[in-house]
Amino acid sequence: MDSRGYYNGFGGAFIPEILVSTFEELSEAFQGIKNDPGFWQEYKEIMSSYSCRPTPLTFAGNLTRHFGGARIYVKREDLNHTGAHKANNVMGQGLLVQRMGKKRVIAETGAGQHGVATATMAARFGFECTIYMGEVDVKRQRPNVFWMERLGAKVVAVKEGSRILKDAINEAFRDWVTNMDTTHYVLGTACGPHPFPEMVTYFQSIIGIEARKQILSLEGKLPARVYACVGGGSNAMGIFSGFMDDPVELVGVEAGGEGLDSGRHASRLCSKDASIGVAQGYKTYFLQDSDGQMKETHSIAAGLDYVGVSPILSHLKETGRVRFEAATDQEVVEALSLTIRKEGLIPALESSHAFARAYQEASSLSQQDIIIINQSGRGDKDIFTIADAFSDPGWKEFIIQKAEEYHA
Ligand SMILES: Cc1ncc(COP(=O)(O)O)c(C=O)c1O
Repeated sequence: MDSRGYYNGFGGAFIPEILVSTFEELSEAFQGIKNDPGFWQEYKEIMSSYSCRPTPLTFAGNLTRHFGGARIYVKREDLNHTGAHKANNVMGQGLLVQRMGKKRVIAETGAGQHGVATATMAARFGFECTIYMGEVDVKRQRPNVFWMERLGAKVVAVKEGSRILKDAINEAFRDWVTNMDTTHYVLGTACGPHPFPEMVTYFQSIIGIEARKQILSLEGKLPARVYACVGGGSNAMGIFSGFMDDPVELVGVEAGGEGLDSGRHASRLCSKDASIGVAQGYKTYFLQDSDGQMKETHSIAAGLDYVGVSPILSHLKETGRVRFEAATDQEVVEALSLTIRKEGLIPALESSHAFARAYQEASSLSQQDIIIINQSGRGDKDIFTIADAFSDPGWKEFIIQKAEEYHA
């Protein structure tokens, strides 16, 4: 990365003049914690007492036997407080906000995981909190909205555009421009203007640092491959950064939706539908038309249907350091089902993309090889979508009965 936050031409900070001093202040505060030898220790301590870190690396023996190839390990980010890797980033940014002396945080959220994590962090640190969420996501992730509100956050349903994550990001930036003196924008993924991609990656790198140490202690050698799903790219950058300088193949799995030829997917790095552009303050691959208008995206996983992607991952695609694949909604539901039955693990729909691709490749590797799958979050939040996908009759009856009770 160069001093202006470019990763071989991707990234940068395309921000309105009015936000320049806010970004300078943020960059300075971030450099401050990076150069403070005590900060990482303070961060590790809060993550261990508040969010179950280090998360375990679980050997999936039944799945390993099922596929008969590589030994399969799962990095358990689902065991973080609030159920996903998002906790790593928000707690890090929370400590930073404390140091900057600000009292209010805002955030965007897609699946709601980052919103819940931010609202939790705000409750813990005593910050005022507003969460922006596309109206479509508010409807499909109601349980997370419920929890954000209980945690004291104001949830704003964004009715602009296609009413999903990108629209929530635009709205959060609008708020920030008006309230920058008092407010910090807790961006939830490794995207956005510099220094966010670097900063979010820094906090999430705790996943890779732990995973590398754990696999060496358990197996005495490095994995052949590491798999992670890719929305904005934070869990992927988190685990990949632990193995970046090793001879380990890194595989990022995007939302293939109804297939890469269907036009209904969210694949920016392995479909032909994306191109390089500048939006939302940074330069990367976006799903956009020839006029630069953002396309509609689709995924069964609310946390993966973002139009842009981390500029660091765009750079790693160009250099070939990371291989990008896509998993379809159907493959994801099948992989989720198998994981539940064989291991008793319930990965989030987002994480199940990484499982789906790993399962397609596990049997072609040898029994001496190791693979690690990053289980970025737990699937409890997806119960409505998963029950629909499995056409569960008992669940449908339960919902109808609940609705009748409300109407009575
Ligand atoms: C459980 C889970 N995994 C993955 C993601 C995708 O985000 P990222 O690519 O930043 O890790 C999300 C986003 O909401 C999520 O909730």
